Amino acid sequence: MPDAKTLLILDVDTGIDDALGLLYACAAPQATILGVSTVAGNVDLTRATRNTRAVLALAGRPEIPVWPGCARPIMREPEDASEIHGGSGLGNAILPEPAVAANAGNAIDEIVAAAKAHAGEIVLIATGPLTNVAVALMREPELPKLLKRLVLMGGAFKEGGNTTPAAEFNIWHDPEAARIVFQSFGGEGSAPLVAVGLDVTRQTLLLPEHLRDLARRCEGAAHAPALLQFLQDSTRHYFERVEKREGRRYFVMHDPLAIAAAIDPTLIDTAAVAVDVETTGTLANGMTLADWRGVWRRKPNAQVAVGVRAERMIEDFIAAMERLARR
Ligand code: RIB
Ligand code: CA
Repeated sequence: MPDAKTLLILDVDTGIDDALGLLYACAAPQATILGVSTVAGNVDLTRATRNTRAVLALAGRPEIPVWPGCARPIMREPEDASEIHGGSGLGNAILPEPAVAANAGNAIDEIVAAAKAHAGEIVLIATGPLTNVAVALMREPELPKLLKRLVLMGGAFKEGGNTTPAAEFNIWHDPEAARIVFQSFGGEGSAPLVAVGLDVTRQTLLLPEHLRDLARRCEGAAHAPALLQFLQDSTRHYFERVEKREGRRYFVMHDPLAIAAAIDPTLIDTAAVAVDVETTGTLANGMTLADWRGVWRRKPNAQVAVGVRAERMIEDFIAAMERLARR
């Protein structure tokens, strides 16, 4: 059973899959979103923040606070993923310019303040590079004891990367931040760190027929036209890239799966393992090394997702989009 009224903070680099994950979280009756922090990753911080506000408005949730965070990785030069997400970060989708809150708080201040105000209750979900989470941990080293859970979309623990043969994008973009995060969890009293990596997200695919099915199911619903237009225009860019490469169309639900699994942990199976991150390599920079055979003799610091109920997750996602269309 999913947590009743899970308190969430999402940390995103709103690109296309972050956007679909935000829509899912907005439509989850069992989740209360305290705020959304933004970080540079898929696109620069300004675009990620603007996209996040625009997607929340599309979901009918413009009141959710958006807190800009770090504009660049801790050590490295930022390298975006605009070839995948498009220059805007939302593929071919065009959303109305969102209203900007006059007093938008800073991500780090807001994450730490919320964790202290709701000690032990907040599930922090990171679907972008871990720069904000690492800086928040440096600001408040007790953060692992103040959270209920950290769920991150990132890493590849039994298979290859998607940005280099060794590394997944969120980790690769800021490996120093990722190392700080993984090394901060696993101690006495620490909340679990759940890593939802490519091992399970690559099994969780949205297909064109799922969107056609959704269009049928929300025929005549008040908010269906704008929502369907967004889903079609944002994923089309991605579908076309994949089709050129593989001759078929699918969209990998990286961030939506991490967010769905944070709300309903029964969607994934996890295994406890010691994880560390390569930061000094050349070929393998940003690689997440999972010590499955225990050769490091370290205490596990992560719950790594090793299994997924992908079909149910896609069904839940489509049902959530129908709820948004009919709200
Ligand atoms: O590797 C996939 C991850 O990198 C997703 O979070 C996607 O949005 C990009 O940030
Ligand atoms: Ca992301």
